[in-house]
Amino acid sequence: MYSADKPRIDELTAEERAIYATLKPDRLPQHVAIIMDGNGRWAGHRSLKRFLGHQQGANSVQLVTETASRIGLPWLTLYAFSLENNLRRPRAEVNFLMRLLKTYLESNLQRMMDNNVRMRYIGRTHELPAEVQEKMRWVEETTARNTGTTLTLALNYGGRSELVDAFRGLAAEIKHGKIVADHITEEDIHRHLYTAKMPDPDLLIRTSGEQRISNFLLWQIAYTEIFVTERYWPDFRGIHLLEAIADFQRRERRYGAIGEDGGEVEEDPEQIGIAAS
Ligand code: FPP
Repeated sequence: MYSADKPRIDELTAEERAIYATLKPDRLPQHVAIIMDGNGRWAGHRSLKRFLGHQQGANSVQLVTETASRIGLPWLTLYAFSLENNLRRPRAEVNFLMRLLKTYLESNLQRMMDNNVRMRYIGRTHELPAEVQEKMRWVEETTARNTGTTLTLALNYGGRSELVDAFRGLAAEIKHGKIVADHITEEDIHRHLYTAKMPDPDLLIRTSGEQRISNFLLWQIAYTEIFVTERYWPDFRGIHLLEAIADFQRRERRYGAIGEDGGEVEEDPEQIGIAAS
C-alpha cells in the first residue's frame, strides 16, 4: 500500500510536538477524512459576512494539510464542496466558493510542493466551471510525483451520487460481459468508487458540533471512528488534528468482533439456556 514519507516532527510547533509525543507512532491512522463545517457561524459570531468565514476556512485547509504532512499521514480527505452546496446555496455564494478554490490552488501550489503533498479530487468535478477544472488539473499534474500526504478534496461530491456512478460502472461491465450480476462482490463495488485506490478512512472528524454524516463517503466509513468537535472549521488547526488522533488512539476498534472487556465466551453454545421472555 502507498505510504507517506517519514515524519518531519522538527517542523511541528512546540504545542503540536507535545501532543505528538503522547501518540503511538505505530497506531497512527492511515486516512483521516474531515467534514469542514461552521464557516458561516464563525463569521456570524463576529458580525462578519459569510464569505470571510470561507476565506478563513481555506487558510485552515492549508495549515491542517501541512501538519498532516509533517506527521507523515498518508491520506487526508476534505469535504470542500458538496453536490447539495452546489444546488441549494445562493448562486453568489457558490460563485465565491469557486473563485476561492481557484485562488487557493494558485496561491498554495508552491506550499504543496514544499510539503511534498500530492493533490487529488473526488466528486462530479466535470460539472464545475471550466476555469476551475483547468486549475485543478494543473495542480494535480504538478503534484502527481510528490510522495508525502495525498490531499483529496471532495468537490461537487455526494456519497449517494458516488454510489450511483459506481453502480452505473458495474452495469456497464455486466452489459459487456466482464462480470456476472450474481457474482458481484464488495470488492467490485469498491473498484468503481471514486476512492478505489485509497484505503477507507480510519477517522472521520466533523467540526462545529453537528452529529451527522451529510452524505460523505457513505460506503467507505462503515468501520470509521467518528470524532465531533464544537470548534468551527476556521478555528481548526494542526494541533486539533493531533488531539483528534490522540482520542482515536484511546479507542478500541472491533470491526464487529468482541472487545477486550467483553466477558467470557461460552465454550459449548448448545449448553446455553435461553429464558422465555
Ligand atoms: C461549511 O461552512 C463549509 C463549506 C461550505 C465547505 C468548506 C469550504 C471551505 C473550507 C472553503 C474553501 C475550501 C477550499 C479547499 C479552498 P458552512 O457555510 O456550511 O457553515 P455554517 O454551517 O456555519 O453556515
